Amino acid sequence: MKTIIGTLVFATIFAILMALLVIYTGAFNVATAWKDPAPISWVLERTRENSIETRAASIVAPPTKGDKQIDSGFRSYREMCAVCHTPPGGKDSPITKGMNPTPPDLAKSAEHMSAAELFWATKNGIRMTGMPAWGVTHKDGELWDIIAFVKKLPEMGKDEYQALDARLEKGHDHAGGGHGDDGHGDSESQKNDGHEHEDDGHAH
Ligand code: HEC
Repeated sequence: MKTIIGTLVFATIFAILMALLVIYTGAFNVATAWKDPAPISWVLERTRENSIETRAASIVAPPTKGDKQIDSGFRSYREMCAVCHTPPGGKDSPITKGMNPTPPDLAKSAEHMSAAELFWATKNGIRMTGMPAWGVTHKDGELWDIIAFVKKLPEMGKDEYQALDARLEKGHDHAGGGHGDDGHGDSESQKNDGHEHEDDGHAH
């Protein structure tokens, strides 16, 4: 018994000393350009997947709301996500190329993640990866619009994406006139969800 306790104490002290050594000597390479060895990538990926799955388990996705919602989600995606998560048929931006981990193709993520999981990751972000927490600046309703659009990505080809891009760019220009600091995607999406807002008229 004594030897077991002795070994455990020794192992604990050894582990703490090793950790301090790594922290204080700069032995750990924080460079983004340094690729993790396969076992470390494996640990990080499983940790991310399980963390998202556990935390999204209690989230219930609201019913989807049709084409208007997809349009609104598309506008936000184009403005907020496409720079890192390359759209269908698009080329990786220098930001995407330079990041580690590489921002995944959301069409693939949407195939294996539930709407609730996509929502959780989008709202809360993913620590130490560069994936921002959009819930800090955006309402849940706006994020669900984006998720509704992301869920369409697996079946969306380059042509369909570009057609949507052209149609909504046009529509936006014609709708015209001063949009707020928040960016047009957001204000439009709020207008589409209009009935909750008192200043729309029907409430007082
Ligand atoms: C600055 C770059 C950047 C932007 C902008 C960005 N992301 Fe990400 N995102 C990442 C990175 C990097 C990861 C990968 C994290 C990882 O591998 O652990 C990620 C991961 C995700 C994941 C998890 C996917 C998976 O397969 O596990 C989702 C969902 C996601 N992002 C959605 C979004 C949405 C929606 C937006 C726009 C509202 C967005 N991201 C904007 C960089 C970004």
